[in-house]
Amino acid sequence: MVDLIYGRGITDLLREMPFYISIFKKMTAYKLFHIKQPMYGSVDVNNVCNLHCTHCYWWLNRKEERDITVEDWRKIIKEKFNKQHIFVTTLVGGEPTLRSDIIELFCKEMPKRICVVTNATFPLKRYDGLYFYWVSMDGTEEVHDRIRGKGSYAKTRKNILDYISGPDRNGKPAWKDIWITMTINSQNYMTVEDLAEEWRGKINKIGFQFHTPFAKGDPLMLPFGELRNSVVDKLIALKKKYPNYIVNPISQMSLMKGNWGGVGTTPVDCPSWAILSLDHMGRVKQPCCIGSADPKSMKPICEECGLGCYSILVAQGIRGN
Ligand SMILES: C[S@@+](CC[C@H](N)C(=O)[O-])C[C@H]1O[C@@H](n2cnc3c(N)ncnc32)[C@H](O)[C@@H]1O
Ligand code: SF4
Ligand code: SF4
Repeated sequence: MVDLIYGRGITDLLREMPFYISIFKKMTAYKLFHIKQPMYGSVDVNNVCNLHCTHCYWWLNRKEERDITVEDWRKIIKEKFNKQHIFVTTLVGGEPTLRSDIIELFCKEMPKRICVVTNATFPLKRYDGLYFYWVSMDGTEEVHDRIRGKGSYAKTRKNILDYISGPDRNGKPAWKDIWITMTINSQNYMTVEDLAEEWRGKINKIGFQFHTPFAKGDPLMLPFGELRNSVVDKLIALKKKYPNYIVNPISQMSLMKGNWGGVGTTPVDCPSWAILSLDHMGRVKQPCCIGSADPKSMKPICEECGLGCYSILVAQGIRGN
């Protein structure tokens, strides 16, 4: 299959034409009349994780609550996702691979529109309707383990290598299913090129985003300025060298040099409305997928935001207000 755009071939693009038409209509409604209808989705499929990473926003607002059932999600998919023609949806968590029953359901109900973001410390299953796995790797082994816990890199590496040595999925080699996502912070920024080189030729793609703080002065945030600019310039150079391997467009990476999102904890240019973000109980999270349904919770700092999934929309001309 020829990879035309973001891992999709001609047959995918033809089959998905109704979604592209729907996105076009939503964009037109937004540009002409400022009508804001979500185009993409993000779902915390569970409230459990096996790791406790130092940079993680999810633990900041976590409360002891149960997960909802597969049947509850079936209704939500029907009423909120498929009725509104939500296109690609990322399953997050917690650690989503701990709920393979819910992943299975989403892949069945929204075939080839589901990405699973995972720490990949458990073996990766083959799901028929999966789009791809976004495997989180926070730098090369030593720094990744400092952030994610000793031995976690080795487990993730083994699970990726086991998966890609397995059989084709729907006629596509398994390595095409694996994309890596790295969240860059003050501890791991120096390893971006090494991580990209380590996995080049083994997996399909790698994407980068920056740490988003929930408190001013968070030491993990790579502050705006010379050093951050030099990291972005390195990413842009990598993109020019390996245009199909590096996911981020240059226009998006350039935004990452400064504030593209908002003022304080309020989104302004950020199109937080464009992604329907639900927590593990199906409640809408505010202001975005790293926020919370509880208005009293800790909030991400929009003016220092480094998230990839919203900044890519800004780079495509989709704005907040
Ligand atoms: C919360 S995790 C959930 C999925 C899964 N447990 C994993 O680690 O991939 C989703 C993604 O958010 C990233 N992340 C966590 N905290 C972040 C923060 N403060 N800013 C930006 N990204 C963050 C993680 O590195 C991971 O790639
Ligand atoms: S594995 Fe994912 S959800 Fe769990 S602590 Fe790490 S980043 Fe957060
Ligand atoms: S994605 Fe970033 S800028 Fe947008 S609402 Fe969330 S924290 Fe704010």
